[in-house]
Amino acid sequence: MTKICCIGAGYVGGPTMAMIAKQCPDVRVTVVDINERRIAAWKTDDLPIYEPGLLEVVREARGRNLFFSTDVDQGIRDADIVFVSVNTPTKTFGEGAGCASDLQYWELCARRIKEVSTSDKIIVEKSTLPVRTAEAMERVLHAGDNPIHFEVLSNPEFLAEGTAIADLENPDRVLIGGHETASGQKALQTLVDIYATWIPRERILTTNVWSSELSKLTANAFLAQRVSSINAISALCEATGANVTDVAHAIGTDSRIGPKFLKASIGFGGSCFKKDILNLVYLCESYGLQEPANYWRSVVAMNEYQEARFVKTMLRSMFNTIANKRIAILGFAFKADTGDTRESPAIKVCRELAGEHAKLVVSDPKALDNARLEMPELADQIEFEPDPYKAAAGAHAIAVLTEWKEYKQLDYQRIYDSMVKPAFLFDGRNLLDHDALYGIGFEVYAIGRGRKSHLK
Ligand SMILES: NC(=O)c1ccc[n+]([C@@H]2O[C@H](COP(=O)([O-])OP(=O)(O)OC[C@H]3O[C@@H](n4cnc5c(N)ncnc54)[C@H](O)[C@@H]3O)[C@@H](O)[C@H]2O)c1
Repeated sequence: MTKICCIGAGYVGGPTMAMIAKQCPDVRVTVVDINERRIAAWKTDDLPIYEPGLLEVVREARGRNLFFSTDVDQGIRDADIVFVSVNTPTKTFGEGAGCASDLQYWELCARRIKEVSTSDKIIVEKSTLPVRTAEAMERVLHAGDNPIHFEVLSNPEFLAEGTAIADLENPDRVLIGGHETASGQKALQTLVDIYATWIPRERILTTNVWSSELSKLTANAFLAQRVSSINAISALCEATGANVTDVAHAIGTDSRIGPKFLKASIGFGGSCFKKDILNLVYLCESYGLQEPANYWRSVVAMNEYQEARFVKTMLRSMFNTIANKRIAILGFAFKADTGDTRESPAIKVCRELAGEHAKLVVSDPKALDNARLEMPELADQIEFEPDPYKAAAGAHAIAVLTEWKEYKQLDYQRIYDSMVKPAFLFDGRNLLDHDALYGIGFEVYAIGRGRKSHLK
């Protein structure tokens, strides 16, 4: 029986390993983490992350061939294949601060693997890493007189939070990078065979390690670039009277462009896009490629512009003062169907509104626990309220910041009736029916569509 250990029981490690365990009952999968609370939660039905369909997958395999443990060393020692899925955040200190990846967790894992292993292993980079990280890892793993052989593969994860289970069950592709040596190709084939249990072989792409590492950064950079591109156009739409939804539809029907990732909004968030683009910027700069670095940096700059522009629109339309005005924030997760708030545009929007002395009431169906942790410095100014009707009652404005489908189904007449007039609604996700809201009496502001106002 093949034994897999995954270091890191987060948004990637948990779902990916649960899917492998579900699809491959003959493979024993142990997910290990130093975070005791996380591991304890994975053993219950109150999982540490929210992801539609995840609990069912975990329940099917847990206790059969899927295990969770804090015994990292034992997990590594027992395994034939070790996936490393630890966090690789942006560095906040020293050389490359604010841009480069902080690889300390990764390197710690490599040292641990070397320290405790008593047999040869395949090491799989699941975390998103800068190009040529595998080389550094190999140096750490093989330093000194180590008789054990470690073969490092790159297998970046392309799942999107909110649709992780569907993405894992039926991925567009799985990418595996291996060295072009006999042992590299053998290890690569071992991993291909695991995925081939449920994924058609033509969708399992194999490359060398460096191409695989770079493909993940490139994929995220391209996705984020589309969001920034349509957001740049949304500003022009507001200035000219064009409608960004119509423009996006018109260009998206061109098969060379395609319709996905063309939704104008307050901007992208999540733990990956910004971090991975900045990592790409840092890589370009370290190879002396300043123009490519500048190009990719502008994608992040446009995202920041869009967040700031949204707050400015709120301020200007509410007569240039929001001090002491109650504002209901509907949605704090960085996207719908997740409780993840990392790098959520809502953080920046709330901070800026609080800076104008607004009184904020944050509501979200799944992300309130994380939201509370994001802005401890604003504890006096922010209320957290799971019920959107209670959040909106007595408010001057509502800002929709996450595209939860629940928010489409609210009774907006009831909400309008409970608000201070004029009642403002700022739709940061272009989620709602703006004509209907205007008909109720709201002052409606959307992204890239201008405003619908009853005010003279
Ligand atoms: N979140 C996503 O949507 C996504 C998608 C694709 C790729 N990725 C990449 O996958 C990686 C993991 O992302 P995530 O969102 O799952 O992160 P996460 O922060 O949710 O999880 C990482 C886990 O690793 C654990 N960990 C850190 N150091 C450890 C150590 N030395 N030993 C044992 N456990 C340790 C942490 O306790 C944490 O639980 C990152 O590189 C990220 O860029 C994330």
